[in-house]
Amino acid sequence: MDLDNLQGKVIAVTGGASGIGLGIVRKLILLNAKVAVADISQRPAELHDCPHIMYDVVDVSSRRQVHEWMQRIVLKFGRIDGMCPNAGISPYEGGIVSDELYQRIFAVCVTGVWNCGTEAYWQFKKQGGGGVLVITSSGGGLRPVAGLAAYCSAKHAVVGLTRAWALEWAQEGIRVNSVAPGHFIQGLTETAMQKETAKTFPEAQERFSSMVPMGRIGKPSEVADAVIFLLGKTASYVTGHILVCDGGLLN
Ligand code: NAI
Repeated sequence: MDLDNLQGKVIAVTGGASGIGLGIVRKLILLNAKVAVADISQRPAELHDCPHIMYDVVDVSSRRQVHEWMQRIVLKFGRIDGMCPNAGISPYEGGIVSDELYQRIFAVCVTGVWNCGTEAYWQFKKQGGGGVLVITSSGGGLRPVAGLAAYCSAKHAVVGLTRAWALEWAQEGIRVNSVAPGHFIQGLTETAMQKETAKTFPEAQERFSSMVPMGRIGKPSEVADAVIFLLGKTASYVTGHILVCDGGLLN
């Protein structure tokens, strides 16, 4: 695998302050990429004093904030080569949620991806084509889980956007793919989101892990490796693909 191919590339990552997003950022730093991180939370301590990193507090559900973030990236790094819309929320639903919660889930998980994907598209066009998007979807976006209708339908929309944009933008040399971490009632990658949702069924944790054919939940770094593959040259002929990273759960 050509691991040098992201060296010097400008990659934007949302939800990069923790979990899978932070896992992606860590790998990109190791690969000597220039990384623009956006998150609704403040910059985590480990991302202070990193060269080639810019950090912005951004709410991805706000088009204006995403637009201004992109402008700041171009001002600092001159261009954008890749975008990872990864920010998402997955509050436990357990039934029909309030309209407010439904709208919030869609605002972050779907509109957030829409805002980042379309803003990146216009920037890629300005640069003369090319560019890559790797979106974090979810196993729940491929096979729904009872009790999580809002989250699962939002992630189905993310899968749909990935495939539709891949078709629409292929002629411009823009690749669009997604990584789907495992999800069953709760997330199955060890992150803050997963720990939060795991509190709902503390007694069932072993059972959830044993449902995964590989017998354990995943690590953010393992999902990040799948993202890095799709970002890089090694995946140059891959577009519209949903790479499931779930220890075999969806098999
Ligand atoms: P996490 O909670 O550890 O990280 C999510 C990050 O997104 C946080 O840093 C949070 O501050 C940020 N964020 C939330 N709302 C935001 C907003 N409006 N604007 C900007 N940033 C915002 O969660 P995790 O697990 O790393 O999730 C990352 C992605 O992976 C999400 O899209 C999630 O749906 C997806 N996923 C995670 C699974 C898991 O097992 N952890 C399973 C399936 C999908």
